[in-house]
Amino acid sequence: MKERSRGTPLIDMLKGYQPCRGRFHMPGHKASPDFCRTFPGAAWDITELPFSDDLLDEKGCIAEAEELAASAFCGEFCLFLTGGTTLAVQIMVGMAARRGPLLLPRASHRSAFAACELFGAEPVVLEAEECTAEGVQKKAGKAAALLVTAPDYEGRMGEAPAMLRAARACGLLALCDQAHGAHLGFCDRLPAGAAGIADLWAVSAHKTLPALNQASLLLGRAAWAEEAREFRKLLHTTSPSYPILASLDYARDFMEREGGIRLAALLRWREREQPFWPLRPEQNEDFTKLRFDLTPYGLEEAEVRRCFSQAGLTPEILSGEEVLFLLSVCDGEEDLNRLSAALRGFGPFRKVREALPPPSGRPEKAFAFLDRDFGREFVPLADCEGRAAACNVGLYPPGRPVLLRGERFDRPRVEYLLRNAGRLFGGTPEAVPVRRED
Ligand SMILES: Cc1ncc(COP(=O)(O)O)c(C=O)c1O
Repeated sequence: MKERSRGTPLIDMLKGYQPCRGRFHMPGHKASPDFCRTFPGAAWDITELPFSDDLLDEKGCIAEAEELAASAFCGEFCLFLTGGTTLAVQIMVGMAARRGPLLLPRASHRSAFAACELFGAEPVVLEAEECTAEGVQKKAGKAAALLVTAPDYEGRMGEAPAMLRAARACGLLALCDQAHGAHLGFCDRLPAGAAGIADLWAVSAHKTLPALNQASLLLGRAAWAEEAREFRKLLHTTSPSYPILASLDYARDFMEREGGIRLAALLRWREREQPFWPLRPEQNEDFTKLRFDLTPYGLEEAEVRRCFSQAGLTPEILSGEEVLFLLSVCDGEEDLNRLSAALRGFGPFRKVREALPPPSGRPEKAFAFLDRDFGREFVPLADCEGRAAACNVGLYPPGRPVLLRGERFDRPRVEYLLRNAGRLFGGTPEAVPVRRED
């Protein structure tokens, strides 16, 4: 049974103003009929007016919508953001940097490393094998905060909850990038998120909920609300998009009314269909992330692409090495059935080798992450072995650096990046910025 709506204060405000003429205020498009023909949602694209509240000093409908979101997403407070989770990560890293060094797993998103550069904070990087409660305890003496990503892009929680608990027990600020887990609290067959464990956590509403791109929430314990607001004032645009803000109101209301039912239906679909797929999806805790590791089969990307494009399906990632489908509460039955039909015909493939894991271990460090005192040149990726990266280099998606500024390329990393050269960030296959060796 659908739950009753607790209301949508921001959407109600916008609906009330939508028919209004005589807009002698920003933005300059004035929701004119001509403009609205090309941008149909433009009537809601307004600015701070006496009745529309102010994101950076909220007291009215935005404050009300944030309060409702805080209770729905189990935070003691909630900040709406229209700059994506990138902005939420900047706020968290900014707060950490005020206190001291930040423990940051290597598999963190590029936005976390970028925020370290922004705030002049040299991260204490945790390699995969150090990403445990003990790993945090060992390094806690050197740090003031920990920022973990959970769930990750592939729907894995790993040791993140234990790491966050260990961080708090050691007196560190416990921060969680839960960008991919906005939906977690709405189904008991999904893992618990960072609520109740972390001090602050960020969720990208736009990634997994019915919300517009860039719609994001920063949640946390009340003790951190004032400082987080202060950082939002420093970093956020003073002209936030009202359609994006309203979509946060919509997503919260939708999930409260229908999230549980829709997620349960997705899970039933997956449990019913999966036995018919020749290839087993990767094991993870989040059933909405459907990933197939293709590295054992030596397939060409074109071969994989043919299979899904014929069926009119567009995965989040598609390469010869992996395919990732993201499911959400908005997937319709027809699309899901087409996806399952395509997966029924996907494989079986002949195994030509063991699965190829991404490169691991700590790369050699040539210079400090924040060091800027060097000349740079551009060399082809294939010639990078032994050279020191002049910027973070990795794959996007998912946006995780394989090498950080100042680390040396080795053969396994060059090969891994070459195999996935179509989604390189930090350079192109023809030109990667490296330190000039004089
Ligand atoms: C783990 C993680 N954190 C943060 C971000 C940044 O989020 P946004 O794109 O909403 O700015 C992403 C984006 O993909 C991400 O995967």
